[in-house]
Amino acid sequence: MSLIAFASVKGSPGVTTTVLALASVWPTSQHLIVAELDPAGGDLATRFGQSFEPGVISLAAAARRTSGSSTVIEHCQQVLGGVDVLVSPASPDQVNAALRLLDDRRVWAELRSNDPIILADCGRLGDESTVAHLVQASTLLVLLVRPLLSELHHLHARLPALHTLAERMALVLVGNGPYSVSEVADTLSIEVLGSLPSDPDSAGILGGAPGSRRALARLPLLRATSALVEQLQTTTAPEDTKLPLAEEVDPAKPDRVLAGQAL
Ligand SMILES: Nc1ncnc2c1ncn2[C@@H]1O[C@H](COP(=O)(O)OP(=O)(O)OP(=O)(O)O)[C@@H](O)[C@H]1O
Ligand SMILES: [Mg+2]
Repeated sequence: MSLIAFASVKGSPGVTTTVLALASVWPTSQHLIVAELDPAGGDLATRFGQSFEPGVISLAAAARRTSGSSTVIEHCQQVLGGVDVLVSPASPDQVNAALRLLDDRRVWAELRSNDPIILADCGRLGDESTVAHLVQASTLLVLLVRPLLSELHHLHARLPALHTLAERMALVLVGNGPYSVSEVADTLSIEVLGSLPSDPDSAGILGGAPGSRRALARLPLLRATSALVEQLQTTTAPEDTKLPLAEEVDPAKPDRVLAGQAL
């Protein structure tokens, strides 16, 4: 299936928030996991008041015992009432040790070739990142950036190096800025999958703040994210096995946010 890596090159444009938003509206007909693999340390367990285990540490321990363990689902927790997440501890040292172990066990290639779909939050992508091999193994690297001159300049400077790393790359613009999707795509010669609005209310709920799930589903960020799901499905699906578009999913089935109890 698909291993899709999400990252930024500078700042905190909203990688973690966007990955969680995508998982919240992804059709429930497809099993999907959010893997928090940010070398700078995880946020989700803290944001949702959950334990660091099970998570990437217990997955790495399992991979040490059984070669190439990719039973990621056994090490997931649920947030937002139904989103499976592989959480990381806040400590960069612990996360990087686990990432190196998983790297040594060549778990990334397995993640790419097996179910479920993995949305990997790779954090800020530095030159010597411990997730470099994961990015290489991914079907697609999605870079998040604010459409601001300063951020786009940094991205432009990093693109040649990132092109050598990732098989395929695309951008998502987050928040307000003077540049449109087409301007950014034309100027940087890179596919732009879409743009997500600045929506502090949604971002707050996706960051663990209390909020009504009904309200979240109606908010601008989640609506725009649904369109992005369709773009990602189209972009990553092989021609002969097109995945169903979000709007083709049985409307009787609630989306992940609406299916949950926690919000
Ligand atoms: N679309 C959005 N609208 C408004 N605020 C947002 C949006 N996306 C993220 N934010 C806010 O921006 C801040 C950073 O978001 P987030 O943690 O998702 O970024 P990140 O890129 O993962 O950062 P880091 O690299 O530090 O992990 C948070 O306060 C979050 O609530
Ligand atoms: Mg993050």
